[in-house]
Amino acid sequence: MTDKQLAVIVLAAGQGTRMKSSRPKVLHTLAGRSLVGHVLATARSLDPAHIIAVVRHDRDTVVATIAELMPEATIVDQDDVAGTGRAVEVGIAALPGDFVGDVVVVSGDVPLLDAATLATLIAAHRAAGAAATLLSAVLDDATGYGRVVRDPDGRLLSIVEQKDATAAELEIREINSGTYVFTAGALRRELPLVTTQNAQREKYLTDVVGLLSAGGSAVEAMTVEHGWMVAGVNDRVQLAEAAKRMNELIVRRWQLEGVTVQDPSTTWIDADVTLAEDVELLPGTQLKGATLVQSGAIIGPDTTLVDCEIGAGATVKRTDATLAVIGAGASVGPFAYLRPGTYLGADGKIGTFVETKNSTIGAGSKVPHLSYIGDTTVGEQSNIGAGTITANYDGVNKGATVVGSHVRSGSHNVFVAPVRIGDGAYTGAGTVVRKDVPAGALAINVAPQRNMTGWVEANRPGSAAALAAAAESGDTTATATDQ
Ligand code: UD1
Ligand code: CA
Repeated sequence: MTDKQLAVIVLAAGQGTRMKSSRPKVLHTLAGRSLVGHVLATARSLDPAHIIAVVRHDRDTVVATIAELMPEATIVDQDDVAGTGRAVEVGIAALPGDFVGDVVVVSGDVPLLDAATLATLIAAHRAAGAAATLLSAVLDDATGYGRVVRDPDGRLLSIVEQKDATAAELEIREINSGTYVFTAGALRRELPLVTTQNAQREKYLTDVVGLLSAGGSAVEAMTVEHGWMVAGVNDRVQLAEAAKRMNELIVRRWQLEGVTVQDPSTTWIDADVTLAEDVELLPGTQLKGATLVQSGAIIGPDTTLVDCEIGAGATVKRTDATLAVIGAGASVGPFAYLRPGTYLGADGKIGTFVETKNSTIGAGSKVPHLSYIGDTTVGEQSNIGAGTITANYDGVNKGATVVGSHVRSGSHNVFVAPVRIGDGAYTGAGTVVRKDVPAGALAINVAPQRNMTGWVEANRPGSAAALAAAAESGDTTATATDQ
């Protein structure tokens, strides 16, 4: 149920200079979602009455992503005053004037923080009746983070940024995660008092903590057990670390749901993938986007599936597939390339070195070896001979190929589209099918074969071929020459 006393402000206005990228930092992705996408998903699961995203750098690109993921979010533009404090100040100005609840502040660049931890933070804040509760972590290496400064009794005094810290403060290993709960009143009262007199000439949100503490308000900190959970992504090294960690969490979650993952370290599963019980993932498998795998299917090794649907009990081996739907019990690969719009029916087969695109291959039908099948519909229980390709493009237009059910096409055919092969028809090896084949017909159009008997003996006398030919035909008079 919506928490009417809760607002979440997502900070996404920063530049992300350390990424060295033309793409805004919060739009870099891990597990198939942007950094800010992960944060928004976590924010949404708290079901707050208000979600506010503060933007500035690359504003339009960032807003487009946020609007797509969360149309209900309120977008607020930060002005020329820099800093997290200013970002929150413009953020709360977008809240209804009579909102007196709690404001959660999260950074758009902290993707691993989960909803359960945030919910615990809110509960702790409310139980203590605090003006502010921040999430902290104790790290072996606190470099780059703001440090949590306490008095000798352990009372929280302030947060000091790395760039403003004294040598003694730099020794502190308790860091500010950049995630907080404030009462709306405390933010409204204190933020206007925050100045930009610091090393970065920015309005720090962290100064609110110091002001509240100095004014005698209750300021609490909750320490997370695992530092990685609050790790910020500021450069590409941290992006890869966060992606690895998130993948470990996702793989583990699916293992506990009944998925066999032979080698978690080489298996990558995006956040939006769905797997059923008894799915088996072999080494080198990447499941991306909204891929869905039904029970008992075996995927891999070395397989990448993007937005695919794999039926129960299917096997997909050494395959690259995008937007493909594979029926139950079907088999794909090894070495298959399935492009968008590929549908393979139940118990069908797309075999070795086969490329498909925008094609439906019916139940029980097989394209076993060395084929290109594009813009094609194949009925049920048909077999497409090895090395067959659809010539679907005449240089200007794409044409469709229709193959009926129970068709047996010979090896090395070319189906020149548009063309139709009727139910139960056969085609001979090497046929170039340019005209429709009626149901039940045999189509052949290769030139008749002519055998010129004795050609090798006459033209290559004494060669190994001539000797071999003579031996097979029982001629003992032929002799070898030095060649
Ligand atoms: C901030 C905290 C630091 C904490 C760290 C945790 C401050 C002053 N410092 O530092 O104590 O340890 O996070 O990761 O808050 N942003 C805006 N507008 C701005 C500046 C930043 O919206 O003007 C956003 C950024 O897009 C980002 C977040 O705020 O999502 C944090 O900004 P960043 O510059 O990464 O802060 P840190 O230096 O990491
Ligand atoms: Ca940061």
